[in-house]
Amino acid sequence: RPVSLQHISHSHLQKLKEAEERARNRPRVFKEPKSKSTSCPPLGMESRKIEPDQLSASSVSQYSFAPQRARLNMQGSDDEENMRGGGWCANSEDKNHWFEIDARRETEFTAVVTQGRNSLNESDFVKSYFLAFSNDSREWTTIHDGYTDWLFFGNSDKDTPLMNQLAVPVLARFIRIIPQSWNGSLCMRLEVLGCPVPDPVDVQYRQNEVTPVDYLEFKHHSYSDMVSLMKSVNAECPNITKVYSLGRSSKGLDILAIVISGNPTEHEIGEPEFRFTAGLHGNEAAGREMILLLMQYLCKEYKDRNPRVQRLVEGIRIHLAPSLNPDGHVEAFEVGSELSGWTTGHFTEDGFDIFQNFPDLNSILWDAEDKGMVPKLTPNHHMPIPENLETNISIAVETKAIISWMRNYPFVLGANFQGGEAIVAYPFDSLRLNKPDEPRVIADESLFRWLAVSYASTHLTMTRDLHGSCHGDTTAGQHGIVNRAKWKPITGSMNDFSYLHTNSFELSIFLGCDKFPHQSELANEWEKNREAMLIFMEQVHRGIRGIVKDQQGNPIANATVSVEGINHDVTTALTGDYWRLLNPGEYRVTVRAEGFSPVTKLCVVGYQSGATTCSFNLAKSNWDRIKQVRHFHAEMTKT
Ligand SMILES: *[C@@H]1O[C@H](CO)[C@@H](O)[C@H](O)[C@H]1NC(C)=O
Ligand SMILES: *[C@@H]1O[C@H](CO)[C@@H](O)[C@H](O)[C@H]1NC(C)=O
Ligand SMILES: *[C@@H]1O[C@H](CO)[C@@H](O)[C@H](O)[C@H]1NC(C)=O
Ligand SMILES: *[C@@H]1O[C@H](CO)[C@@H](O)[C@H](O)[C@H]1NC(C)=O
Ligand SMILES: *[C@@H]1O[C@H](CO)[C@@H](O)[C@H](O)[C@H]1NC(C)=O
Ligand SMILES: *[C@@H]1O[C@H](CO)[C@@H](O)[C@H](O)[C@H]1NC(C)=O
Repeated sequence: RPVSLQHISHSHLQKLKEAEERARNRPRVFKEPKSKSTSCPPLGMESRKIEPDQLSASSVSQYSFAPQRARLNMQGSDDEENMRGGGWCANSEDKNHWFEIDARRETEFTAVVTQGRNSLNESDFVKSYFLAFSNDSREWTTIHDGYTDWLFFGNSDKDTPLMNQLAVPVLARFIRIIPQSWNGSLCMRLEVLGCPVPDPVDVQYRQNEVTPVDYLEFKHHSYSDMVSLMKSVNAECPNITKVYSLGRSSKGLDILAIVISGNPTEHEIGEPEFRFTAGLHGNEAAGREMILLLMQYLCKEYKDRNPRVQRLVEGIRIHLAPSLNPDGHVEAFEVGSELSGWTTGHFTEDGFDIFQNFPDLNSILWDAEDKGMVPKLTPNHHMPIPENLETNISIAVETKAIISWMRNYPFVLGANFQGGEAIVAYPFDSLRLNKPDEPRVIADESLFRWLAVSYASTHLTMTRDLHGSCHGDTTAGQHGIVNRAKWKPITGSMNDFSYLHTNSFELSIFLGCDKFPHQSELANEWEKNREAMLIFMEQVHRGIRGIVKDQQGNPIANATVSVEGINHDVTTALTGDYWRLLNPGEYRVTVRAEGFSPVTKLCVVGYQSGATTCSFNLAKSNWDRIKQVRHFHAEMTKT
């Protein structure tokens, strides 16, 4: 089965040894490519800019290890039923092996990044290779050191991407990686860096491409760059922004947020609070930059009196938290967009995956549901969190900070940006451990599906290119949305926690296959996401909202708002205001509060934008009087 070194002749081995020796002693001097002064971007193996028909190989061990599985950071599955290769693998019967990319145009190639096969059990990776180039895919020129073919050292484990920069950039259209030695079976994943040579025929086409707006900063921001950018936006738009910290990371970095609103310093009665978060996984850097771009955009457009942005800013209190795991980002940022791989910086400094580090409230709710206790004995919302949360060392300091943030503001809607997939995932995220075959449907499923579709269908490519799957493991079809529990179930997610412990509905937006896109992709990413982010924020105005007061006009905090037919209540904020996201329809809404008589009303949500106002005035219930009447009645019937 495996192509192992034993099959290779002794003389070949001898030649390889010599080549390795020379490679070891070669000086490392690199020339910059002619076409650009900055380093060249990836051609797009990982981002899928390179299409499947641009890839070919000498052979394939079996269909699930086809050349298109060779994309950097491709995730595989060893599942016998539905095997998806974690890389390209060559047929062991063959003698000569190569992997070929057609750049489709003349390109100045500058570097190759390789990685082994993604696999649970095997350790397959290419240890050394030659590189050859061609303009027609027939005549090939191998990189030569003047004496013999130039050997490049490859990987020494299956996961860590390794970059080889070319001493001199090579001009060509086709590139071949020609493996010479490997561990285990001959399998690999890769990315190629290069600058496309400007094509005169293309110039016209290029002019039609988006010209990035000049006031936006399209670059990856280090922690300190991010802090200065947030401060500068605050200085630019002082009366609509406020920068604050939700707490500190394990290494002591502030987890910053900026609030953008007509009155940023306090909750205005009736105004919903919204949040966008990113960077739960530090290496998923696209979302961080999208949030920083949105922040700049909202400030500038507000000042320029863009009416839609004015409506957004004045009608919503928008919280933007670009980096929930700043320590992780520092780690990923250091190795950079091409080499951060699948997991560098994914976890916190203390090793937690924050997104799935929240208390598991699902099992408490579902157990109670199974016993028929919901909602009469156990509420269907605001499930209590474990009392020893603060001292629990299994919960990251970052998670604790995020939890108290989620509790401190009356958030109505939020989304967290992630990466590595191009899809919107809605809760529940978790499955019951004892009944994994029966995913529980969230009470607000139709609304969640709507929210997910509002983002995915507005995003320029999410529903088109990949049918929602970077790795071949989602069944999202053309809608670009998926229920997380049916896709990749996890316990203790931020989304499930938000729904079960607070009023806020939360979804995950996976921005693309490449978790850490090259800087040159950011303008394009912004174009893809800008409208979707605005549309998504506008969804906070869908449904009903209002104020609950007593008969003297005092607001009632913590009153329960129940919608008939939807087994999930929301509560009023300290200021008596509430928001209940709902799809268009007619609803019987009941408001209850301790010491008051409940009131039920019919509230109608139309198709036009803007939430329907449905306010309530509750009368004090006089329980003593009722008891007296009952007692009297009982006495009467006795006699
Ligand atoms: C991988 O290893 C695990 C545990 O060692 C085993 O259960 C599983 O069957 C192995 N998978 C394959 C494809 O060999
Ligand atoms: C491809 O063609 C260009 C000229 O258009 C030439 O400079 C370059 O060396 C050629 N590359 C190879 C690998 O033959
Ligand atoms: C190379 O592969 C073998 C099995 O194929 C494995 O036992 C070994 O750990 C691998 N070496 C490395 C450095 O991963
Ligand atoms: C903020 O300041 C600008 C002028 O700099 C003004 O036009 C705008 O109305 C102010 N907004 C608020 C909410 O005070
Ligand atoms: C700490 O939190 C974890 C994860 O939520 C949970 O499994 C564990 O039971 C908690 N430990 C204590 C002592 O409460
Ligand atoms: C809110 O009301 C519920 C009963 O509806 C009660 O159990 C809970 O303690 C109240 N919470 C606060 C913060 O007052």
